[in-house]
Amino acid sequence: MSEDLLKKITAHCKEYGFVFPTTEIYDGPGAVYDYGPMGCALKNNIRRYWWESMVEAHENIVGIDSAILMHPTTWKASGHVDAFNDPLIDNKDSKKRYRADTLIEDHLARLEEKIEKEVEKARKRFGSQFDEALFRSTNARILELQSRREAVHKKFKEALEKNDLEALRALILEEEITCPVSGTRNWTEVRQFNLMFATQLGSLSDDSLTLYLRPETAQGIFVNFLNVQKSSRLKVPFGIAQVGKAFRNEIVARQFIFRMREFEQMEMQFFVRPGTEEEWYDYWKTRRMEWHRRLGLGTDLHRFHDHEKLAHYAKAACDIEFRFPMGFKELEGIHSRTDFDLKNHQEYSGKKMSYFDPDLNESYIPYVIETSIGLDRMFLAVMTAAFHEEKLPDGTERTVLHIHPALAPVKFAVLPLVPKDGMDTLARRIFDDLRRQAPGQYDEKDSIGRRYRRQDALGTPFCFTVDSQTLQDGTVTVRHRDSMAQERIPAEQTKAFLEEHTSLRSLVWSR
Ligand code: GAP
Repeated sequence: MSEDLLKKITAHCKEYGFVFPTTEIYDGPGAVYDYGPMGCALKNNIRRYWWESMVEAHENIVGIDSAILMHPTTWKASGHVDAFNDPLIDNKDSKKRYRADTLIEDHLARLEEKIEKEVEKARKRFGSQFDEALFRSTNARILELQSRREAVHKKFKEALEKNDLEALRALILEEEITCPVSGTRNWTEVRQFNLMFATQLGSLSDDSLTLYLRPETAQGIFVNFLNVQKSSRLKVPFGIAQVGKAFRNEIVARQFIFRMREFEQMEMQFFVRPGTEEEWYDYWKTRRMEWHRRLGLGTDLHRFHDHEKLAHYAKAACDIEFRFPMGFKELEGIHSRTDFDLKNHQEYSGKKMSYFDPDLNESYIPYVIETSIGLDRMFLAVMTAAFHEEKLPDGTERTVLHIHPALAPVKFAVLPLVPKDGMDTLARRIFDDLRRQAPGQYDEKDSIGRRYRRQDALGTPFCFTVDSQTLQDGTVTVRHRDSMAQERIPAEQTKAFLEEHTSLRSLVWSR
């Protein structure tokens, strides 16, 4: 995988109506994107897959939709005003700004890559005789790289834990990390930068109030914790889920929809008895990985990664990382947030946030396990796994999106082989009947081969072709996107066929 692949996916997303850079005609603000017809449909399907799996498939999880603008004290209590910062560094020659921690992480990834390259070279050289474990533990070059990587990693971790900005800078200089644009090591100091967008409520300067666009959806859940618990008569353990926009003034915002300034989160806070948080943390790690794997994106594309530095609210935290075109990166976070948020809201608001546990006959502030995934990042993960340029046996090429049929924006297309002799009328009739069940397209323009290519590029899993045989025996050809195999089925079975192969509900419940 490579940056080149990311460029291809970005171009494909624009050409076929998945994702456009926002306000493009004015060279709009960077790192903000609009979703086109195909993208909007795919995004809705991913959102539904998450919502049905998290809310509808759990009796003890309910959903809410809270406001983006919240009282500003929320963000004082949550710690975001004081601690939601990125350490930034500028290169004086290129005038480019970077996150200091990201520069070091990329450097560590490069050291790791060098090690893997040495191993691969040796594997080729020794062939079937190759003993990888022995090579890794004895080869001088590997041992040197390994010990350098470990030393950098140790210093990096310590600097992050102590929030030591000077140590971060020293490490960048020591490791001779250069600016990717100017290639120089002419760095400024490292400074903290708060990521929240501020705005004013009220028109008069003396009665106006500074509000923040929420940087995470989680706080809307915490402040409503008792409203939801009481109105839904929930008993701990229970969860509250929400999908919604979040905003972060990301300074280093690159890599398409991976890091955006306006994005959507799908978050669930699970409230548990204090003392049981470790077992629930493990439970949700397992369940969330299952959710990803059920989509069959690829066996080696996900991994867990424990956080180097815990967020200000967390007791334990890990990421589910995905192999994006630019390497393994965070896709979802699972955090053991203790009672940090509820306790602070109780303190700052003066309102009780405790829960009365009827089974224990006592009140306490529950502990929280959070699962938090970016909808846009999940979209990019689906696209990354789906996008393929394939050489076909006849020497031609096709670009195809192997999107899971349950997530595909268009589930089927109905194509008359030629738009005449009654094939078009019959194909239209079949299409009008099928579209009541699932989103589809009718297409009669160009050769059948070109029409298949168009549907491949959208990720349409099935095409139903109406030909002269259909007029005689009522069967249509089903053309499968992934294998390109064709089979005939009676036209009246197409509804059942789609239900069997594209149902989101079946995917959600196929545990
Ligand atoms: N409530 C916890 C929280 O917000 P986070 O790790 O900062 O935790 C959770 O964010 C998820 O939101 C990330 O795993 C990622 O998928 C997504 N996310 C965070 N920042 C993002 C950005 N700038 N653009 C797109 N997605 C982002």
